[in-house]
Amino acid sequence: MKNGLLIVVIIGFTIPLLISCEKFFPPAPADDEVLDGFVEGLSSEQQAQFLAGDVAFNSVFTAETGLGPSFVATSCGSCHPGDGKGHPFTTLIRFGQGDTTGNSYLDNGGPQLQNRAIPAHSPEQLPPGVPFAKFTPPANTGLGFLAALTDAQILANADPNDVNGDGISGIPNYLTPPSYFQPQSYQQNFGGKYIGRFGKKAAAITLLHQTVNAYVQDIGVTSEFAMSEPSIYNGTNPTPDNVPDPEVDGATVQNVVFYLRTLKAPIQRSPDNADAIAGKQLFLNANCGKCHIPQWTTPQSDIAALSNKTFYPYTDLLLHDMGSELDDGYTEGSAKTSEWRTPPLWGIGLAKNSQGGQYFLLHDGRAITIHDAIMVHGGEAANSKNQYKQLSETDKQRLIKFLETR
Ligand code: HEC
Ligand code: HEC
Repeated sequence: MKNGLLIVVIIGFTIPLLISCEKFFPPAPADDEVLDGFVEGLSSEQQAQFLAGDVAFNSVFTAETGLGPSFVATSCGSCHPGDGKGHPFTTLIRFGQGDTTGNSYLDNGGPQLQNRAIPAHSPEQLPPGVPFAKFTPPANTGLGFLAALTDAQILANADPNDVNGDGISGIPNYLTPPSYFQPQSYQQNFGGKYIGRFGKKAAAITLLHQTVNAYVQDIGVTSEFAMSEPSIYNGTNPTPDNVPDPEVDGATVQNVVFYLRTLKAPIQRSPDNADAIAGKQLFLNANCGKCHIPQWTTPQSDIAALSNKTFYPYTDLLLHDMGSELDDGYTEGSAKTSEWRTPPLWGIGLAKNSQGGQYFLLHDGRAITIHDAIMVHGGEAANSKNQYKQLSETDKQRLIKFLETR
């Protein structure tokens, strides 16, 4: 009898407690609402390396730990919050040249403007009259799947001379690799140049390449791969900071690369939504999928969890001439001024969560709706944009609904 009473009392207290806890601690967001998290099938050792990379990605640098002397932001995570797209206040500026002969400012401030500096150092200012472009931070999810593709898979969609006559060419960015680059079996050598896959102009060959550049150019942090601090245009105060180089160790850089490789792909939401299903067909009918290629399959990878996996990024990783409106007059590698790499569209529906409640789309965040982003498509994408324009209002909304569930 006593025990029975006790149980009743315990239950009586616990139920309201559980209900009120629910109020204080809302349930964790569903897996398909967040971008952070690792791909399925990692071993416990790999999970540990992922976590080490996650910690390094979000570590904030200070003047004492190697920040600067000049820099743009203090951690990877501050520009890629929750691995999602960044807010325009973390936009980068790159400057240099309007032709593809190479950046003549590399030892004189280029390729990136470091607009902040640690105490007693000067932030950088743009050289007068220099060509430049603005870059809003992209999401970082599912990159390991894109990194695992072979050059041959990417080249299969390239059509530089538009032989098939569909008005869409598509060309890789051919780049001179950095000294530490070690080509893998899936990469091809084009007279000393290699195909770029990452970044808005596809100017980074590998995730290591992108990460090393990010440490130096974005945070002012040297590593064994790049031992010099970022240069400043007309640097009146070239004194280095007081932290010995390298400021981050090679193992940490590799952990961050492993983290990027094993971040899960965004999970499709509302797969049964009728408008989204109709919208996918409209997207394909308007030839959006010729550049934003829906589906790919990885070959064998050194990370088993990435081997022979079909994934849905909506990109071809190729450069396209996007017309005069998106021509900023700035080049990178062999990517011309109006050429941009097709950005993956997966995860786009979650972009608002990390961009302060609204969209900032396209390379510089200028489009605040998906509709606006489509309407700026020109050049090779002009026909596709015009097909979208001719859709009824309802069908436009369906196409957009489809993208928002990716
Ligand atoms: C100041 C903001 C900022 C910081 C800090 C920053 N990034 Fe980025 N990141 C960007 C921008 C902007 C781009 C696009 C630039 C480009 O086209 O190269 C980018 C691109 C990338 C990409 C390529 C994604 C793709 O789809 O091709 C990766 C990977 C990446 N960053 C990782 C990192 C890592 C790792 C760090 C820290 C070491 C870092 N970023 C720090 C702003 C930032
Ligand atoms: C010729 C290739 C091509 C075609 C066709 C094309 N796109 Fe794009 N798309 C791009 C490129 C390249 C960009 C990046 C441009 C930039 O950042 O300045 C882009 C950007 C976008 C963005 C913004 C993504 C972001 O994260 O900022 C959306 C949304 C988009 N496209 C949707 C569409 C839709 C819908 C269609 C069909 C009506 C379409 N695209 C057709 C190449 C193409």
